[in-house]
Amino acid sequence: MERLADEDEVARWLREAAAHPGGVAVLTGAGMSAESGIPTFRDAMSGLWSRFDPAALASEEGFRANPAHVWRWYADRREGVRGAQPNAGHLALGEFARRHPGVLTVVTQNVDDLHQRAGNTDAIRLHGDILENRWLEPCPRGRACAVTEAVAGEPPRCAECGNLVRPGVVWFGEMLPLGAMEAAEAAVRRCRVLLVVGTSGAVWPAAGLAGTARRAGARVVIVNPHASEIDGEAHAVLRGTAAGALPRLLASSPNTD
Ligand code: OAD
Repeated sequence: MERLADEDEVARWLREAAAHPGGVAVLTGAGMSAESGIPTFRDAMSGLWSRFDPAALASEEGFRANPAHVWRWYADRREGVRGAQPNAGHLALGEFARRHPGVLTVVTQNVDDLHQRAGNTDAIRLHGDILENRWLEPCPRGRACAVTEAVAGEPPRCAECGNLVRPGVVWFGEMLPLGAMEAAEAAVRRCRVLLVVGTSGAVWPAAGLAGTARRAGARVVIVNPHASEIDGEAHAVLRGTAAGALPRLLASSPNTD
């Protein structure tokens, strides 16, 4: 078995990569925002999917079956996101990008806006944006739908055709936003170091980005307090948390800053 690198070695890889345009990419999952108080999906006790049914709440069929129920669940999650603050991990990534313009690409599966608020405004969002709305389907009349006055607790509807408003997230079985995966693949192929932070690696195609980076010659580093499904792709597995490990890994170095 190959020897896995430790935190000091990873910090050195990052300092070297910081000298190259596009040298560092980061793939984040729900664990990135856990220390901001936003629950993950698959953690055994606290994960959303341990308490809620993803088929009912994260699929188009589930929404069509009970739009009000799904709308209210997302309204609660939106409130959680609006009330949350970027943690030390988000801030370390924002600060790193400011110190090294053109070096860092953040690719996130998260639908919150904490990377953006921490300064990574061009983060690639693979799974959409929970604070956005979109129409459930294209306007059947071929014109623009217009929202009626919303009834509390129900998704707004088009006054003329009844089309429903839905949250702007990617549900199971749906396509990723146009161009997002292509941009993410280009970033991980180009980088020298890919940090994979706070993801179980259970959801594809995002999980495949670690293998893509490794095959393209990047060093792959996982930051996660627990095992993930893609640990086998990593040159280093750091058993820490996002807010704990990232500020140390990305700290400025007298050699490069
Ligand atoms: P998961 O809930 O599947 O995984 C969260 C990961 O974060 C786990 O591996 C935890 O061990 C880890 N973790 C927990 N706390 C952490 C911390 N403080 N620091 C670092 N890591 C920590 O979340 P995702 O992998 O993001 O899909 O899930 C992928 C997709 O599945 C989500 O984007 C969502 C969900 O269904 C959509 O919204 C489309």
